[in-house]
Amino acid sequence: MKFLPISLLILALATATAFAYDLSPLQDFCVAINDPKVFVNGKFCKNPKQVTADDFLFKGFRYPGNTANWLRSKVTRAFVDQFPGLNTLGISMARIDFALGGLNPPPTPPRETAILVVAEGTLLVGFITSNQLNNTFTKVLCKGDVFVFPISLIHFQLNIGKTPALAFAALSSHNPGVITIPNAVFRLKPPILADVLNKAFQVDKKVVDYLQAQFWCDNN
Ligand SMILES: *[C@@H]1O[C@H](CO)[C@@H](O)[C@H](O)[C@H]1NC(C)=O
Repeated sequence: MKFLPISLLILALATATAFAYDLSPLQDFCVAINDPKVFVNGKFCKNPKQVTADDFLFKGFRYPGNTANWLRSKVTRAFVDQFPGLNTLGISMARIDFALGGLNPPPTPPRETAILVVAEGTLLVGFITSNQLNNTFTKVLCKGDVFVFPISLIHFQLNIGKTPALAFAALSSHNPGVITIPNAVFRLKPPILADVLNKAFQVDKKVVDYLQAQFWCDNN
């Protein structure tokens, strides 16, 4: 009897964890259709009788992404918006191309854990913990290496090799979302009040003006 409260606690924790991720599907599939007039948590299903094998195929990773930008990297998404067959399945992917020196700048993925495999090249990767530890975990990855970025933590990948690099990531949500930290802080239109930023970053207002005036490249 004295173990009962502990098992209840474990059950409660397990339930809380289950609700923190995409909900489990209640049917074989629910190929997404867009209805721009109605907003729900997720997307409506295409009539299952009209679903074909093509709904479960995504060809967007066949060709390299265009890395001719300031960051010298390109993220090609296979999220539910690009790949409607993923709807309700709690999973998605990204292809990330890196030119020499290319950086995928710190995003925080609000609803995903990401697991990344390097297909070509050498990447320096890392993530930043919350104030539980105030730490960063970084590693140099070679072709074939796999690294996991725990859910929601800010992370980055930088090509430190002498060749272009290519990586694929699997993500634990069909609609993970992305908040690219520098862009989210400095590129917003209308901008965040300068007083907020100069106090938060402890810099002169001129520095904030300078940063807000920059062009913030989006590699997504
Ligand atoms: C991390 O830093 C915050 C302040 O920024 C502090 O409150 C917290 O105690 C720190 N955590 C550890 C484990 O040092």
